[in-house]
Amino acid sequence: MKLSVALNFLLDLRFPISIAIKPTLRDIVQCPSLLIRPAALSDVFMHHLWAVFGAGVDENSNGHTANYLDSTKVTRYIALEPNVHMHAELRKRANAAGFTEADGTFLLLSLGAQDIDLICAAVGGTQQIDTLVSILTLCSVPDPVKTIYALLEKGLKPGGNLLFHEHVRNTREDVAWWQGFWNPVWGMFFGGCKMNRPTDVWIDEWPGWEERSVFTPEREAEEPERFFCHRVGQYVKAKAS
Ligand SMILES: C[S@@+](CC[C@H](N)C(=O)[O-])C[C@H]1O[C@@H](n2cnc3c(N)ncnc32)[C@H](O)[C@@H]1O
Repeated sequence: MKLSVALNFLLDLRFPISIAIKPTLRDIVQCPSLLIRPAALSDVFMHHLWAVFGAGVDENSNGHTANYLDSTKVTRYIALEPNVHMHAELRKRANAAGFTEADGTFLLLSLGAQDIDLICAAVGGTQQIDTLVSILTLCSVPDPVKTIYALLEKGLKPGGNLLFHEHVRNTREDVAWWQGFWNPVWGMFFGGCKMNRPTDVWIDEWPGWEERSVFTPEREAEEPERFFCHRVGQYVKAKAS
């Protein structure tokens, strides 16, 4: 990989930082204790960042998933979001899409994907979820292989779907090395996100699939030195496991 391209990454960081730094500083002035609570500060920063940056994902912002759910077919939208600063926007979008807590069609859980037992308890038991949707999230979950496999084994119904759109490790080892090199800097601003996770490989290697379909967005195929390589997948869990 060209050194100039690898180092340009630092310049690319300027845009997201410039978006979130001012509102985060305002929050620090209002609540100075954020300075001694790095996890809370990171959540605040990420919330401001994603409110603007997330728009590029699909021309919408937080809670993209709700925009694609047909409320005549989806009986309940369960949103998993440990960052409570994201909740207001998520709830707004869910409500606009026809899902409300009042009628039981919307459930917003302040849990992480790794909290599988609490998730199962909240949704009424194990293997109750028809469709798991992950948009740019598995890059941030702790203990990713264990977390993903637990969601698939304990959360997803037999015959259920996993739909994902994630950025993953570049298949070129030199680019993957740079992804790993910049991870600590990137993660500091993007809620602990790891650029170099082979999430697509981990998902594909899970032994319980009946059907799988996965692709790279066309526009990215021509850019082998990308730091952000996306994979989009639809996987169906075997009915009998
Ligand atoms: C890049 S944003 C994507 C948000 C949303 N999926 C969307 O498309 O707008 C990553 C999200 O993952 C959430 N996140 C971080 N750690 C998580 C975890 N352990 N479990 C579930 N979500 C997590 C963050 O709070 C953040 O909202």
